[in-house]
Amino acid sequence: MGKTKIILMNAQHPEKEKIREAAEIIKKGGLVAFPTETVYGLGGNALDEHAAEKIYAAKGRPQDNPLIVHIKAIGDLQDIVEDFPKEAGRLMEVFWPGPLTILFRKKPVIPAGTTAGLDTVAVRMPAHRIALELIEAAGVPIAAPSANLSGKPSPTCASDVYEDMNGRIDMILDGGPCPVGVESTVLDLSGPVPLILRPGGITKEELENILGPVEVDPGLLPGQKPRSPGQKYRHYAPHARMTVVEGSVEHQIEKIIELAKGMENLGKRVGIMATAQTRHRYPNTIVISVGDRNAPLTISSNLFAVLRKFDRMGVDEILAEGISKEGLGLAVMNRLYKAAGYNIIKV
Ligand code: TXA
Ligand code: MG
Repeated sequence: MGKTKIILMNAQHPEKEKIREAAEIIKKGGLVAFPTETVYGLGGNALDEHAAEKIYAAKGRPQDNPLIVHIKAIGDLQDIVEDFPKEAGRLMEVFWPGPLTILFRKKPVIPAGTTAGLDTVAVRMPAHRIALELIEAAGVPIAAPSANLSGKPSPTCASDVYEDMNGRIDMILDGGPCPVGVESTVLDLSGPVPLILRPGGITKEELENILGPVEVDPGLLPGQKPRSPGQKYRHYAPHARMTVVEGSVEHQIEKIIELAKGMENLGKRVGIMATAQTRHRYPNTIVISVGDRNAPLTISSNLFAVLRKFDRMGVDEILAEGISKEGLGLAVMNRLYKAAGYNIIKV
C-alpha cells in the first residue's frame, strides 16, 4: 500500500464530499481511520470478513481479539443482533450515542472474522459527527478497533494515528483531538449481574444509576485472567519502562522523588507523569502534568498523548502518580496499570 491520505475535517460540520470519499473506501473493502469521542478508530466494513483480516494485519493484532461494531442509530441494531435484554434498551436510550459498548448475541450477517469466532458481538454508537456520518454514508456498520499498532497507546489525534498507520491503511480523517481520550466501557449483560469487562468513558456509577449494582470483571486485577480477550494483552504501553505509584498524594511524591534519584544515578532518563496539583513539587527536568486531579476528564483526555510524548522524548523510565478510582478514574487507572504491565508500588 502507498502513502496514507490524511483529510482535514470540520468535526462539527463534516464536509459531505470528504465523507463520501472515505465511505467509498469502506464500501470497497478498504480501511479508514476516523475520530470518535473516545479515541480514533480503524474502520472497515463490519460485514466483510476480508476487511476484518486487513484490520488485524494493519494493527498486528492477535487473531483472538474481537472488534467493536459501530452503528449510527439504535434501529440498526436489529439487523446484526439476535435479541437484547430490556436493560440494554434502557442503557441505549440513556447513553447512546456515547462511550458505552454492549455485548449481544450476533446474527450470522456479522462474520466470524469480525468477532474472532465468538457468537457475541460488541456494539456501540459513537458520539461524533464524523463517525456517525461515515457509517451512514458507507451504508454498513463499521468494525473499528483503536487505530494504534497493537500494544501501543491508543491514538487521540490524527498525527498519532499517522505515526502508527502510515502506509498500512488507505485514509485518515483528521477531526482534531478526541474529547474523552479513553475507550468505551465494555459491558456484558448476559450474567446475573451486569459486568464491566473494560472500564471506560461511561462510569460504573453512571451505569448503576440506571441498572442498580454493577460489577467490574475481577479478572482485571493484577495476575488474574480477564473475561474480555483484549484485556489480557500488555496494552497502551510506551517503550519506556513504567511504574505506577499509588497512595496518599504526599507519599506518592516522596516515593517518586526517591525512585527517580535512584534511576538517575544509574544513568537513566526519567519522566514523571504528575498532575496539575503536584507538578511543581518535583526537582526533575522531565515532568509532565497529565491533568487536574479534581477533573478526571482532563486526565483521561491527555493520558495516551502524554505516554506517546514521553516516548518521543526518549525517556527510559516513566514514574506515574495514581489517582482516585472514582468515576472516570477507574478507566484511567486500568490504562495506567496495563501501560505499566502491572508494575505498581503502593505507598
Ligand atoms: O472506544 C472504543 O471502544 C474504541 C473506539 C474506536 O470505538 N474502540 C476500541 O476497540 O477500543 P478495541 O478493539 O481497541 O477494543 C475492543 C475491546 C477489546 O478489549 C475486545 O476484547 C473487547 O472490546 N471485545 C470486543 N468484542 C468482544 C466480545 N464479543 N466479547 C468480549 N469482549 C469483546
Ligand atoms: Mg485498543
